[in-house]
Amino acid sequence: SADEKRRRMIIGTMRKNGYAPDALIETLHTVQNVYGYLDTDALRFVARELHVPTSQVYGVATFYHAFTLKPEGRHRCVLCQGTACYIKGGQAILNAVTKTYHIAPGETTEDGELSLLTARCLGACSMAPAAIMDENVVGYLTPERTLSALDGWTK
Ligand code: FES
Repeated sequence: SADEKRRRMIIGTMRKNGYAPDALIETLHTVQNVYGYLDTDALRFVARELHVPTSQVYGVATFYHAFTLKPEGRHRCVLCQGTACYIKGGQAILNAVTKTYHIAPGETTEDGELSLLTARCLGACSMAPAAIMDENVVGYLTPERTLSALDGWTK
């Protein structure tokens, strides 16, 4: 099953590191890669296998920004905050979205509908301010256009 396959990859990382407790970070990267976030059961499994207290595993998981503890939302919105987009009002768009949905970049709404991310450049500067909405690059955004696109998703 998919879950067994994930487990095997996680075990692979631990084995490669001789099950040493200092392999924890590397193992968490594998968990993040195979689940897309740090799954609770997987974290408990890693703690057990590496003989590391669960509290320490959570300590590491919350300390590094590369790790997320919640699955991503059904939709993802990446707002560009690179120079070209910033100059054309990218920050006002970010402010509108964080205020409307009560989430900061890197967070997901409580209902699991929307994950908000930011990027430094999406390679679409000529369409600034730009964003990626799910898989699509969209440009020439305004706060209003962005909110109405997100509204369509989350209803
Ligand atoms: Fe936003 Fe390049 S700076 S797309």
